[in-house]
Amino acid sequence: MLLGAPGAGKGTQAKRIKEKYAIPQFSTGDILREEVENQTQLGLKAQGYMSRGQLVPDSLIIAMMRDRIDRDENRCGFVLDGFPRSVAQADALEKLLDELSWPLQAVVEITIDNESIVKRITNRRICSKCGADYNLIDKPPLPGDLCSVCNGSVVLRPDDNEQTIRTRLDVYDTQTKPLRDYYEARSLLRRVDGNQPVDEVFDSVIGILEGAAAGK
Ligand code: AP5
Repeated sequence: MLLGAPGAGKGTQAKRIKEKYAIPQFSTGDILREEVENQTQLGLKAQGYMSRGQLVPDSLIIAMMRDRIDRDENRCGFVLDGFPRSVAQADALEKLLDELSWPLQAVVEITIDNESIVKRITNRRICSKCGADYNLIDKPPLPGDLCSVCNGSVVLRPDDNEQTIRTRLDVYDTQTKPLRDYYEARSLLRRVDGNQPVDEVFDSVIGILEGAAAGK
């Protein structure tokens, strides 16, 4: 499980973990954005909360994640990014994993200061077609805001403006940070410095995951 504030780098690392171990990645933000895009009932309910930077209600998220996790193909492992984000969600996950007898092996918190987050997120751009990640600092899109992978249009995520980011950071402090104590009490929490380059963050994360798998 990857914990961390908005923009800490959870999605970036989750994708690499998925590729390295060939396991599913469950990113609640991505799943919800797809539901919004497809205008499903869940997407219609979630849209307003997401654009305001607030958490989507626990009952919706818990049902959505239970449905995705409780499948036989996940028996060999999976990576969680952006879930749980509240104590109620963590309790629901713990209950589900207990029922399945699939113990949670590691919780990695990626830490980073708020000003770096605001800089990262206000400069982030994503391809509206294939989801490729760009940023205006060192990985800009092609001229005309086009994606170099699929030629789709590269846009600002609707919740990536500075005001909504500040709300997301407040929400993280009040509703998600208590999970530090929650997982520390279960001896599962490890921390990685998210200000390092992506490859170095990844090496640290992998070191923790392999240590946990070896029972260290
Ligand atoms: P979600 O999509 O999960 O947003 P978030 O947590 O705010 O996370 P981000 O996607 O912004 O950042 P990240 O940590 O994944 O960083 P990334 O790797 O992209 O959630 C969106 C919304 O959905 C929520 O606000 C809420 O409304 C709802 N929601 C989701 N889950 C929910 C839940 N469980 N309960 C209730 N509601 C929920 O990196 C960010 C940028 O930095 C990228 O441009 C990347 O290239 C760059 N970057 C990454 N790592 C580095 C590095 N080491 N050095 C330099 N740049 C880096």
